Amino acid sequence: MTNFETILIHGGKSIDEKTGAVNVPIYQTSTFKQDELGKHKGYEYSRTGNPTREALENLIAQLENGKYGFAFASGLAAITTVLALFKSGDNIVISNNVYGGTFRLLNQVFNNFGITFTVAENDDYEKSITTNTKAILIESPANPLLTITDIKTISDIAHKHNLLSIVDNTFMTPYLQRPLDLGADIVIHSATKYLGGHCDLIAGLVVVKDQELVERIAFLQNSIGAILEPFDSFLLIRGIKTLAVRMDRITENALFTAKYLQNHKAVKNIYYPGLKVSKGYEINLKQAKNGGGMISFELRENYDIKKFFSSLELIMLAESLGGVESLVCHPSTMTHASIPADIRKKIGITEGLIRLSIGIENKEDIINDLEQAIRKTEI
Ligand SMILES: Cc1ncc(COP(=O)(O)O)c(C=O)c1O
Repeated sequence: MTNFETILIHGGKSIDEKTGAVNVPIYQTSTFKQDELGKHKGYEYSRTGNPTREALENLIAQLENGKYGFAFASGLAAITTVLALFKSGDNIVISNNVYGGTFRLLNQVFNNFGITFTVAENDDYEKSITTNTKAILIESPANPLLTITDIKTISDIAHKHNLLSIVDNTFMTPYLQRPLDLGADIVIHSATKYLGGHCDLIAGLVVVKDQELVERIAFLQNSIGAILEPFDSFLLIRGIKTLAVRMDRITENALFTAKYLQNHKAVKNIYYPGLKVSKGYEINLKQAKNGGGMISFELRENYDIKKFFSSLELIMLAESLGGVESLVCHPSTMTHASIPADIRKKIGITEGLIRLSIGIENKEDIINDLEQAIRKTEI
C-alpha cells in the first residue's frame, strides 16, 4: 500500500477484529480494565493512549512519512506541546508571518518561561541564530501573505547548527507537501483546517521521525494532557479519507480564482504561490505539488473593503480555512489581530488585505460572487 490516496483510506487502521467494522470504532472510554496487576491489553488510560486516537496517529504518521504521530485538542495545543521541548534560556528562530496565535503563544506565554524567539529578518535565518538557539520554526506558505520558505534549505541550516527544524504544514497538508522528506524533524498541523476539511472540529497533529523525539513528545503529550478526544479523532479520520479529492478540487478552484483576480482592474496586489508571477513560485514548485487553496489580495484605494465583505453572498466572512466551503477573512482585524500593529505593518499585513480560503463549490460561482461584490464596492 504505497500510494498516498490509498493510504488515506486504508492507512493507520486497526480493524475491529471482534465485529469487522469497516471504520475505526469510537472508543469512548477514559480507562481500560486490566486483567491482573501489571497486565493490560495495551491501553491503561485514555490520556496516555486510546485506540481511536491511535488509529489517527498511525494514519498521520504514514501520510507524513514519519515514525510516529500525536493528536492534540487543537493546533495550538500541538504547538504548545512541541514548544515544551525547550527550556528557560533557549531561543527559537521563527519566520515572519507565522500564524498570529503561534506568535502570541511565543510572545505572551513562553516568553514568561524564559524561552525567547527571534523573527528571521529578511528571511536571513543563519544570521538570526545565536548560541542559545535550539530550533527554527517555519510555515510555508506562511499566513496570510502566502510567503514561501525553502524547507530543505532551512532544514539544512538548522542541522548545520545542531538545531531542530520544525514546519507547520497546515496550509499544504501531506498531500501537497511532506516536510519530513525535505529534512524537517517535526511537522505540525492545525488539523482543524484541510485535514478535518469540514469546519466541524478543532484538532492538532504532530509527526516526527526520530526515535528520541518520539519518546520526548509522547512524554509531553501525556504529561501536558492536551489530547484529542475519541469522537474528534474519529471525525478527523473521516475527514482525512477525502483529503486528495478535496484538495484536487480546491486547488483547481484556487488557481482559477487567482487568475481571475490577477487580471482584475480592482486588484492592486495578489498573493498566490501557484501563479508564475508570484515571488515564491519556483521554490514552492520544488517542494509542493501546487499552490494550495489560499489566496490573499488587496483591492485598489477606490474600493470600499468593508462594503466588499458585506456584499459577498456565497463566500462567508469567517475565521479559519480549509473547509469545503469558501471563506473570506480580514487578517489585520481577525487572524492576525494578536500581532502588534507595528509588526503587522512591517511584514505587510495591511488594513486592505483580504484572505480567501477556496472551497469545493463550482468555480464559476466563486468568481461570480467576488465579481458582484467588487462591483458594489467601487467608490
Ligand atoms: C498555520 C496555523 N497553525 C496553527 C494554527 C492553530 O490551530 P488551531 O486553531 O487548531 O489551534 C492555525 C489556526 O488558524 C494556523 O492557521
